[in-house]
Amino acid sequence: MTAPHLLAWIFAALLLQLSAGIGVALWRRQGRSQPANAPAAVSPKPSSGAWPGWRDFRVKQRTFEDPANSQCSFYLEPVDQAVLPSFKPGQFLTFQLPINEAGETRNIVRCYSLSDRPTPTSYRVTIKRVPPPAGQPSLPSGLSSTHFHDRIREGDILQVKAPSGHFYIDSDSQTPVVLIAGGIGITPMISMLRWCLDEQPGRTIHLYYGLRHSNEQAFKPLLEQLAQSAPNFHLHVTCSRPGENDVQGRDFQHTGHVNVELLQQTLPHGQHQFYVCGPTAMMESLIPALINWGVPRHDLHYEAFGPASIKLPHDPSSPTAPSADTAFTIQFSRSGRTLEWNGQDENLLEFAERHGVSVDSGCRAGSCGSCETGLLNGDVGYPQTPDHDIAPGHCLLCTGKPASALTLDA
Ligand SMILES: Cc1cc2nc3c(=O)[nH]c(=O)nc-3n(C[C@H](O)[C@H](O)[C@H](O)COP(=O)(O)OP(=O)(O)OC[C@H]3O[C@@H](n4cnc5c(N)ncnc54)[C@H](O)[C@@H]3O)c2cc1C
Ligand code: FES
Repeated sequence: MTAPHLLAWIFAALLLQLSAGIGVALWRRQGRSQPANAPAAVSPKPSSGAWPGWRDFRVKQRTFEDPANSQCSFYLEPVDQAVLPSFKPGQFLTFQLPINEAGETRNIVRCYSLSDRPTPTSYRVTIKRVPPPAGQPSLPSGLSSTHFHDRIREGDILQVKAPSGHFYIDSDSQTPVVLIAGGIGITPMISMLRWCLDEQPGRTIHLYYGLRHSNEQAFKPLLEQLAQSAPNFHLHVTCSRPGENDVQGRDFQHTGHVNVELLQQTLPHGQHQFYVCGPTAMMESLIPALINWGVPRHDLHYEAFGPASIKLPHDPSSPTAPSADTAFTIQFSRSGRTLEWNGQDENLLEFAERHGVSVDSGCRAGSCGSCETGLLNGDVGYPQTPDHDIAPGHCLLCTGKPASALTLDA
């Protein structure tokens, strides 16, 4: 190769490296400063931004994250290979899965939190296998989680809605963060933690991870490596029933449950932002306890992975939730049914199902939008603000309760 040729090659390589660097920097900037749904600024193929409806993703890789092989990560790449819109760490994806039951295929909808920091080429979710409830082995195990674990393999195609959700880390603040996870509630915390260590390396982070024993711990090598390498990251694995081989100080830091007493003993004084995600029992006890401890509501963020009725101490600034025992007439216009709400049901979805009115549902937690229904007349109240952005003139049945007589388009 002649000298001019060599120079031309070096120049071309430098130019390529520079443009790749600018592309990645712009994509990261987009993730920080624009809404999750904004189109990517730079892409080798045009990005489709926050796509409407369902988009096909191919499963690139599956990896178990815990010693019991009950929590499996799925890495997803868009089939169209366009750059992915960024998301806010803590948000989730919604999946539509064709499930075969007794020879019939029906679509079910479930949400799964993004379990890694944003990258332009793939998403990751981590799914826990859900067995039948304790003491009822004859009931079927969880439909979606069993489908993912037993049937979804590398190369399979999944239908996915764009990232969404209101549970995400406050990226503008440098206030120390307290992440509290129970079991599989660790998934949004890993996303927040990794994003924070990358983008806000000076911010103090405490992660409290509640488990029964360390056999249930997901992401153990990653968490231990991050705790060793980042002096401002403090890991508190808390086991309620440590296993025979679990050693305090090596496998876990505290025994018992993650509760306010533990936080009082281990957190330094000062303001913190709290992010909590865990099983129903943990959410229903910890959230009111944090408020009673004095955590201001604007510093408290939480998400339940399923139906949870978190009873907050009364906040005079928040609108009063509809009274459960008020009687209202509910008209289902398409089914031609007129029924009486008497407060017996937790929400309008349970009410409709109990009376045999056919309505769609997915997450049953206000996240996926499957139960969104036209509200032709009346007002619906929500004890907790749903994650799904409700379209004008509609309501969510799964977390909504009537605040007046209603006419629903169902
Ligand atoms: C915003 C959000 C984010 C989430 N993120 C994650 C995540 O990151 N990782 C994760 O693993 N999960 C996550 N979840 C939970 C997830 O969406 C599913 O709810 C979970 O996987 C269980 O769904 P499934 O279809 O497997 O179980 P389902 O089929 O919904 O069953 C749930 C339970 O009911 C039992 N059951 C079945 N039939 C009956 C019956 N007749 N009577 C009584 N019980 C019965 C099943 O055995 C099972 O125990 C998230 C949920 C939300 C809302
Ligand atoms: S069922 Fe998912 S929002 Fe109601």
